[in-house]
Amino acid sequence: MRKASRVVAEVLLQLKSRVKPGVSTEALDEFAERRVREMGAVPAFLGYRGYPATLCVSINEEIVHGIPSPGRVIREGDIVSLDMGAVCDGFYGDAAVTVAAGEISGQARRLMDVTSRSLELALSEVKAGARLGDVSHAVEKYALENGMSVVREFTGHGIGRHLHEEPSIPNFGRAGSGPVLKAGMTLAIEPMLCLGKADVVIKNDGWTAVSADGSLAAHYEHTVAVTEDGCDILSLAD
Ligand code: MF3
Ligand code: CO
Repeated sequence: MRKASRVVAEVLLQLKSRVKPGVSTEALDEFAERRVREMGAVPAFLGYRGYPATLCVSINEEIVHGIPSPGRVIREGDIVSLDMGAVCDGFYGDAAVTVAAGEISGQARRLMDVTSRSLELALSEVKAGARLGDVSHAVEKYALENGMSVVREFTGHGIGRHLHEEPSIPNFGRAGSGPVLKAGMTLAIEPMLCLGKADVVIKNDGWTAVSADGSLAAHYEHTVAVTEDGCDILSLAD
C-alpha cells in the first residue's frame, strides 16, 4: 500500500504543474496512465464498475468522478480536482487534490483552503482507540464553522486489497460514535465540500457528480494507516 500510494502521490504532484488553461482533461489522463504504468503500478479506477479512465478530473461545480475528455479544456480561474488510485502487487492507494488553474477568485481559494485543512484536521483525529465519528465530525465541524457545506452522498472508505473496503467514512457525524480505530487499519479519508448547498446531481454520463446549485466544490484525499499514536500518511510524495 505504501508503494501504490507513493505512486499516486508522485503522479498527482506531476499532474499539478500540468493543470493550466488550454490543457484538456484527456491530456492529463493520458499523462497519468503512462506515468502510473512506468512506475510499475496499474491504474485502479480504469474499468472499476465500468469507469473509463485512470483519473477523475472534476472542474468547478463538478464534485467528483468527472470523466476526462478531449473536448473538456481547462480555463483560467478553474479549480480542478484530480483523483487517482493505483494498485501495486494487489494493494491499493487512493488520493486526491484540488488545483487552481491560473488566477482564481478569493472564494475559490477559500474553499480549497478550508477543504484541505478539513482533511488535515480529520487526519489529526486518527489514532488507535479513537472512534470513526471523531474523524467524520472534524471535517463537518470545520466546514460548517467556515460557512461551507459537506457532501453527504460520497464518503471515504477502508482501502487495502480492494479500492473500497469497510468502513465507509462519512464527512459528517458525531464525535465519540462509530467503530473504534485499531493500529494497522488503512483508510482513505476524503472530504468533499461545496461553497453553496451540498445537494448532488449526477450528469447524463452516469458518473460526473455536480452540485445541484452549481456552486464550486473541492476534494482532497489521503490514504493513511492507523498507528498507536496517530497515522502514517501513505500518499505523500518523496
Ligand atoms: N476516490 C474516489 C473513491 O474512492 C474515486 C473512485 S472513482 C472510480 O471513491 F472510478 F473508481 F469509481
Ligand atoms: Co477514495
